[in-house]
Amino acid sequence: MNRKEFLQASALLVPASMMGIGKAEASSVAPAAAAPASYLDSEGFRKNARALKFNADGKFKLVQFTDVHWAPGNAASEVAAERIAEVLDAERPDFVVFTGDIAWGKPAAESYKRTFTPVVERGIPFALTFGNHDDEQDLSRQQIYDLITKEYPKNLTGTVEGLSGVSNFILPIRSADDTRDAFILYHFDSHSYSPLKGTVDGYDWIKPDQIEWYRQCSDALKARNGGTTLPALAFFHIPLPEYNYAAANEGSLLIGIRKEPACAPKVNSGLFTAMLEKGDVMGVFVGHDHVNDYLTTWKGILLGYGRYTGGKTVYCDIPWGNGARVIELTEGKRELESWIRLKGGRIESRCHYPTDFGKEPW
Ligand SMILES: [Fe+2]
Repeated sequence: MNRKEFLQASALLVPASMMGIGKAEASSVAPAAAAPASYLDSEGFRKNARALKFNADGKFKLVQFTDVHWAPGNAASEVAAERIAEVLDAERPDFVVFTGDIAWGKPAAESYKRTFTPVVERGIPFALTFGNHDDEQDLSRQQIYDLITKEYPKNLTGTVEGLSGVSNFILPIRSADDTRDAFILYHFDSHSYSPLKGTVDGYDWIKPDQIEWYRQCSDALKARNGGTTLPALAFFHIPLPEYNYAAANEGSLLIGIRKEPACAPKVNSGLFTAMLEKGDVMGVFVGHDHVNDYLTTWKGILLGYGRYTGGKTVYCDIPWGNGARVIELTEGKRELESWIRLKGGRIESRCHYPTDFGKEPW
């Protein structure tokens, strides 16, 4: 089944009222200014602001799992937990991020429980951003957020009240000596479906108020760092339109698997431009497109996919099956190592950014 067939099938299975359309419409209404400058002073930010730290050797390793699509009662889901456990034992990461689409059936709470169990058992801090399918089951985004906040002490997922969506938050990584923030992890809710039906089909976009929040937080973090921009990564579910700009350019260097176009929103709301202007984000990592796991660059910023982590509960025809993306950071450097880890210790697409991406196409 390809994506088009998958979407048609899932649309038949999911009542329109549960498609997240209402949610998208609600979130498209710009809320009152969310006072982003105060976010860094908020309890929501401060409670997890010291949770992550570079190791004594200057390294920090995170694992991205994406699109677990756990269907309760469907035995095909089990391979997701097997792979998550195997990857965690092999990589022993400092942090785990799930970039959306964990729930794929009812009760959704079981999807999160079974998905998180291998992470919880190993005591690893983790967080999530929502995908377009998470709130199509029996829980809204806010209900899922409230549930996982209550149930999982090592869950670092945050949200900003008054901002479009749920699961917009920032996690700093502290320096190894714990004297300062050394790296920033931004997380955004990329929402679900376009609220402008008939005008713009397909997927929703990251909203202007989220982008303004990012801009203001980026400025504030820079100011707190003595005027020096901190290196950063960004995580969310739906790819940006720039993924297609890069992949459509015959001069682009692309490492990994690309079996479908990026199913990005059909309009561009400008998050990538804001990242270019702020100069802190060196890489963006998404999920959503189950048969893509590539990395490429556009205007110098790394654009990457995670690796489909789920079982055969949805379309996922990708060589060597499910797995995860591993990202290793080095304190004080705007660079990273990344690779895909698969079953049985197989590793694919190991590369270094920026060295392996050379010069931008021109
Ligand atoms: Fe998905």
